[in-house]
Amino acid sequence: MGEFTPCPDEAVNAAKAICGPITLSEITDRRGSAVWKATGTVATLAIKAGYGEGEEITAREGAVLDQLPGYTVTVGRYASGVWYVTPWLTGPSTWDLFKPIRHGDGDHARALAGSADLCRAVAELHAAGWVHGDLQPAHGIHTDHDAKLLDLSWAWSPMFPPSPLFQGGITHLVAPELAAAVESGERPVRTTIESDVYALAGTLWTCITGRWPLDYDAAGIGPDVGPSARRAAIAAGAIPLHSAEPWPTAQAPLRAVLRARAQDRPRAAELAVALEEL
Ligand SMILES: Nc1ncnc2c1ncn2[C@@H]1O[C@H](COP(=O)(O)OP(=O)(O)OP(=O)(O)O)[C@@H](O)[C@H]1O
Ligand SMILES: [Mg+2]
Repeated sequence: MGEFTPCPDEAVNAAKAICGPITLSEITDRRGSAVWKATGTVATLAIKAGYGEGEEITAREGAVLDQLPGYTVTVGRYASGVWYVTPWLTGPSTWDLFKPIRHGDGDHARALAGSADLCRAVAELHAAGWVHGDLQPAHGIHTDHDAKLLDLSWAWSPMFPPSPLFQGGITHLVAPELAAAVESGERPVRTTIESDVYALAGTLWTCITGRWPLDYDAAGIGPDVGPSARRAAIAAGAIPLHSAEPWPTAQAPLRAVLRARAQDRPRAAELAVALEEL
């Protein structure tokens, strides 16, 4: 691990202009993008800097946040790349929210309410004409009121076309038809509301079971298999769902989504209702 990249002065100044003196804490720095939590006296902000391979991806995310209803962002360039400042979303990620469930002593009603909140956040994004394209257990934040989505680098809408840089997202949560599109060399790859719903169900499944949905071992796919071969197997439907069933009632509707053809998957709003009614 190298040094955490320095926070751009321009971003620090922008944050100070919004919320007064700030204290910075380092959150993540990988693959050319770094995030800090900037705690001020009147507000707390997230600062993200993109440099090197992350520069254009972060620039794109800043532009998405600028257009999305319900998000606020200030974007700028600095010598090494791009930065943005956006409100810090306070609350656990979906992964963290489910930690007690994974340990066997969780509040099931709370987890189901959180699941429905995450589905609604995705449903709202879809209703606004956007596809997220990179839903994962760490990309939902559960605030006191609702769930909000993070990491919108790959989001697209008819007014904001998909990026040619997108390689298909996290392999473990890629819908079979999306895996096929990526492997066919189609660029830009078009994520869809159906592939988002697959990733949404896969995210919730992962948060419940603590493991990715597909049973690679059962299909003879070892840990050293690269993303391309993994995607090819997913596209071919060659990998069964893992049989671990710590919470069968919640997993049943998720299993149905993960097994359905794209055109047969429910909408995110329908999945919210199905989970809430359990
Ligand atoms: N606005 C925010 N509010 C709260 N936390 C945030 C915010 N933005 C980012 N984070 C935190 O920083 C982490 C990294 O953010 P993000 O996923 O956008 O960056 P990334 O560089 O794309 O990371 P990765 O490549 O791992 O997906 C998030 O998982 C979350 O913990
Ligand atoms: Mg991320």
